[in-house]
Amino acid sequence: MDPVKLAVIGAGLIGRKHAELIAGDDDCSLVGICDVDPRCRSVADEFNAPFYEHVEDLLKAERPEGVVVSTPNADHASVVELCAKNLVHVLIEKPIADSMEASIRIIDIADRMGIKVLVGHHRRHSPLIQKVSDVVQSGRLGQLIAVSMMWTLLKPPEYFDLEWRRRRPGGGPALINLIHEVDILRFICGEVSEVYARSSSMARRFEVEDSLSISILLKSGVVASIIASDATPSPWSYEAASHENTHYFHTDQNCYHFFGTLGALGFPRMDLWSYSENDRSGWQHPLSKSEEPVVRSDPLQAQLKHFCRVVRGQEYPLVDGQDAARSLAIALGVLKSMDTKAPVVIETP
Ligand SMILES: NC(=O)c1ccc[n+]([C@@H]2O[C@H](COP(=O)([O-])OP(=O)(O)OC[C@H]3O[C@@H](n4cnc5c(N)ncnc54)[C@H](O)[C@@H]3O)[C@@H](O)[C@H]2O)c1
Repeated sequence: MDPVKLAVIGAGLIGRKHAELIAGDDDCSLVGICDVDPRCRSVADEFNAPFYEHVEDLLKAERPEGVVVSTPNADHASVVELCAKNLVHVLIEKPIADSMEASIRIIDIADRMGIKVLVGHHRRHSPLIQKVSDVVQSGRLGQLIAVSMMWTLLKPPEYFDLEWRRRRPGGGPALINLIHEVDILRFICGEVSEVYARSSSMARRFEVEDSLSISILLKSGVVASIIASDATPSPWSYEAASHENTHYFHTDQNCYHFFGTLGALGFPRMDLWSYSENDRSGWQHPLSKSEEPVVRSDPLQAQLKHFCRVVRGQEYPLVDGQDAARSLAIALGVLKSMDTKAPVVIETP
């Protein structure tokens, strides 16, 4: 089978990584890179790909079958519109957009033009996340009752050299990073009904938040909390604990905990705590620990291979536009709650 012809639009932090993965995968070929910043020509040169400063020039000259849209959040919709008009399938980096209106524009034009949309919530392709989902769904924790998530790390100062990362809308960990936690929570535990968030910009004093505490109620009645900060050197983040991204310092810690009526699970160590004898339960009885083996692998690469199969028509997108819009609605609900200092009911789009 011929490799799927793919291009990357937006060759910044994550776009360069996509280009590297595409160039190194036999399922696809990198036919071009586009970025409005001419300095990104160096990324194209690195992978021997043609470089364009205008999206339409790339689409018309190289005729890719699919593109990875890795521009800033506020530009996703306008880039996808150009792709859809040229009948090119898209893998859009998360979040799908920076507003519900923009996400609806994306879903509508994709439907009208018949292009496929995969949204880059790449952690859903992680064997670790798939294992937690299996354990929770299997009932081995009993009835799920609570989830605790921690995403705490230190972003280096140069990360904020780009202005959009310091400003709202578009920047800030609620939309850029916690959308991952929110999406995982939905994937494993079900839909969210209400969020209440308090935030602080105390560490950097930027317009965007640097630290948050989020309280979440799921439709099932499960309660969840997320503590997040991008201003602290800490070992408790998905990136540090999962070892999935070589760019990060790795630790052997858990960053999430899942609690059920029969047991509790630490992630990503997959240590499952429960009573050895179920008829002897209660705080005075010993808990025993077992570990769920998982072979770790790169979810970004798995996502790319899935995108190739989506473009070929062999699979339906694991995360389509509608699904991603539900995760966006929660992240935007968090931002609204931060601003109003009140709980926000999530309207499922
Ligand atoms: N999946 C992940 O783990 C992950 C990680 C980082 C970023 N992201 C997402 O990827 C996207 C990009 O983030 P980033 O940190 O790489 O941003 P970035 O600022 O480093 O790169 C974005 C690039 O897009 C270019 N660009 C802007 N508008 C454009 C347009 N209309 N056409 C072509 N190029 C354009 C910019 O010049 C820049 O080079 C965001 O949506 C972000 O949320 C996802």
